[in-house]
Amino acid sequence: MRPVTINPETLLAPHLRALQGYTPIVPPSVLAQRLGHPQEQIIKLDANENLYGPPPAVRQALADALPVNIYPDPDQTAFRAAVGRYLGMAASHIIGGAGADEVIDLVVRAFVALGDAVIDLPPTFGMYRWQADVAGARYVPVPRRADFSVDVAAVERAVRSTPNAKLLFIANPNNPDGSLLADEDLKRLLALPIMVVLDEAYIDFSAHPGHARWVLEHENLIVLRTFSKLAGLAGLRVGYGVFPEKLVPHLWKIKQPYTPNVAGEAAAIAALSDPAYLRDVVARIVAERERMRQLLMQIPGFYVFPSQANFVLCRVADSVRVNGGDPSWHPARRIKAALEQHGVLVRYFDKEGLRDCIRVSVGLPEHTDALMRALEVILR
Ligand SMILES: Cc1ncc(COP(=O)(O)O)c(C=O)c1O
Repeated sequence: MRPVTINPETLLAPHLRALQGYTPIVPPSVLAQRLGHPQEQIIKLDANENLYGPPPAVRQALADALPVNIYPDPDQTAFRAAVGRYLGMAASHIIGGAGADEVIDLVVRAFVALGDAVIDLPPTFGMYRWQADVAGARYVPVPRRADFSVDVAAVERAVRSTPNAKLLFIANPNNPDGSLLADEDLKRLLALPIMVVLDEAYIDFSAHPGHARWVLEHENLIVLRTFSKLAGLAGLRVGYGVFPEKLVPHLWKIKQPYTPNVAGEAAAIAALSDPAYLRDVVARIVAERERMRQLLMQIPGFYVFPSQANFVLCRVADSVRVNGGDPSWHPARRIKAALEQHGVLVRYFDKEGLRDCIRVSVGLPEHTDALMRALEVILR
């Protein structure tokens, strides 16, 4: 008998066949090789990482003998207790994951069946759309205004006119511009018949204390946080969600059991043991963000959006002349390419509403100085 032959692609879930993959950030080692720069000379301002790194206690926790041959505690008992103390909330509201990204995946799997709708507010963090696509959701964008503020009335109309609208994602502060949603607007959105997923990955760099405790009053609110930005643990992948208590048992049922891993959990707990370090780094990053914004604003043709996060978004006018990059490209794209040649990495998005923009993460003062020196050469 001849073996059955089948094209395995025909067996893929139909909604996944034409899916656009997520575009992740390239690591410095790969970029260094591509650009021919030594890795230690690369200035990485493209992924909103925390270039100060974690508190010293984290290095100690990772150096100590971790039980790496034993599975992590699936109940995350120590992790959730530490996060609960940090937030001033019961651990029963908290579920950790491999980054806020995994918690986004968990929430989408919990709420979205094939054909349900996810409401997104682009331009924003691309993970929401990608996860919605992976789940086979109907993607309903409600574009932000030109200043990136949320058109609350338009969101209200979209939620009310979309059958089976399950999730509304809001990055607060928003990535890539750093704007914050006003509390009155959030209250209006929480009055809608939808789960509001408020992603506070960058909230520590804003003047707002955050909305984690709002889940005690609002049963349709989920707040996401991460150790990647505040605590400098992006490489270890630790984040968490703060949930209304009645949802938590449903989420546990479908969560992958062993994330965060033992190293991530130990590092996160150690990071929370040194709040003075975290506060000091936040203050430095906020001060540097304002200095960088002032410097970039002095460049003719640059407009820098006010930001409450650890990055700034610059809109570059058509009139700006750039040495380097493909002459047919918009100046923003040329600047990104030319900066790369100087070993300075920034983010350029090839997306509607962002094509004339670059996003620059806030590093240490010397990183800003290197960026400004490179820009001076490129724009001369
Ligand atoms: C708005 C937003 N949420 C979440 C994340 C991802 O966080 P994590 O590293 O915890 O997965 C990012 C990363 O850039 C982000 O910009």
